[in-house]
Amino acid sequence: MPRFSDFASSVQTETAFDVLATARKLKAEGKDVIELEIGDSPFPTATNAAAAGIKAIEEDLCHYGPSIGLPEFRTAASEYVNREYGLQTTAENIVVGPGAKTFEQLFCETFLNPGDGVLVFSPYFPTYPPNIARRGGRMWISDLKQANDFRPNLEDVERFLADDPHPKAIFLNSPHNPTGGVATEEDLRGLADLIRDRDIALFSDEPYDQMVWRGRHHSPLAQPGMMEQCMAAYTFSKSFSMSGWRLGFAVSSAENVGMFAKLINSALSCIPPFVQLAGVAAMRSDCAERDERMAVFRGKVELLVGALNQIDGVSCLMPGGTFYVFPSVAEVCNRLGIASHGLAMYLLEGADEKAGVACLGGECFGEAGHGFLRFSCAESDERLQAAVQFFAEAITRTERVAAYLEQHGHFRLQSPYSV
Ligand SMILES: Cc1ncc(COP(=O)(O)O)c(C=O)c1O
Repeated sequence: MPRFSDFASSVQTETAFDVLATARKLKAEGKDVIELEIGDSPFPTATNAAAAGIKAIEEDLCHYGPSIGLPEFRTAASEYVNREYGLQTTAENIVVGPGAKTFEQLFCETFLNPGDGVLVFSPYFPTYPPNIARRGGRMWISDLKQANDFRPNLEDVERFLADDPHPKAIFLNSPHNPTGGVATEEDLRGLADLIRDRDIALFSDEPYDQMVWRGRHHSPLAQPGMMEQCMAAYTFSKSFSMSGWRLGFAVSSAENVGMFAKLINSALSCIPPFVQLAGVAAMRSDCAERDERMAVFRGKVELLVGALNQIDGVSCLMPGGTFYVFPSVAEVCNRLGIASHGLAMYLLEGADEKAGVACLGGECFGEAGHGFLRFSCAESDERLQAAVQFFAEAITRTERVAAYLEQHGHFRLQSPYSV
């Protein structure tokens, strides 16, 4: 039996998918689980996108296509980002991909050599570390703080550039999963000023570009010189409810985009043409529907934040963007002697025989997430309210918490969280 590589053995995956598997198993056994663990849209695929995809399949647009993307897709995506973010791109600046996630890997393969330093803001999307490790990069962590609205700390960026033996790249995600933090235009200007004309590449992960609840979305690509240094990744998973279609694209200079396309050629060949044509229809004809749906998410986020803040020991910011809320539950954890992901799993498995709430501990997104929970808003308003009520009651059942910890000792809180 061949031994697995050190890299493969070291990979940590997205905990959301593990919790989802547990939640679905409990549901199949008859438990009423309110699912707030996964960042998926509860809406069906955007209407015109679905129709265009079906038509394209009927027309047998189901064969190989160019690795970089169909010309009509690249043109539509370029027009879309120009319209939405005031960029001045052409189709030459666009490369298609299977969602946003794959661009983490392509970015690292394009820019990193073993030993290069990569600044990552923590908490972070859990697939950043394995993609950085894939190229032998080193993570340099900067903590995002609730007191700073979870915005990136530019002093840390300066320190990284000055102190790291070989600084090479920065991962930025705004609006941010899991905290909902949004980098301001000043933050992006400051960041661009720090890296401009240096051998530093910026990965700007922008899946939540349409979920900004204060002001509007800004991409670092709009900053002077950033088209050459920044690769911004967009997806149809969130805005157009197309997570299972696996469609996204990246925007960067024509030279960078050409390199990403070369790597796509070597790994994926191409993205299915019928999927790209569904995406074209979404960007051209489904934006009004998109905006209505985003307004619904905003209402759900406000509802969840308001309800959570009623619970003693819970403190939750109204996120600047995304459909996640990220309350501090440090006081509750300290009181119960349970780690935050332990609390999340207790709500799902231990608090009640017949009902449960699925969510994630902040530490599933890195050390800085300890003491927080992440809830997504992908259920009905009534179910969101029910989830918060369930949470409020569950944390009063101290004997059940103790029994859960008896069975799951690894969730015991080792030392109290700072409050
Ligand atoms: C920050 C972040 N990056 C990337 C992704 C991946 O999205 P996609 O479905 O487009 O691959 C997600 C999805 O949850 C995300 O939250």
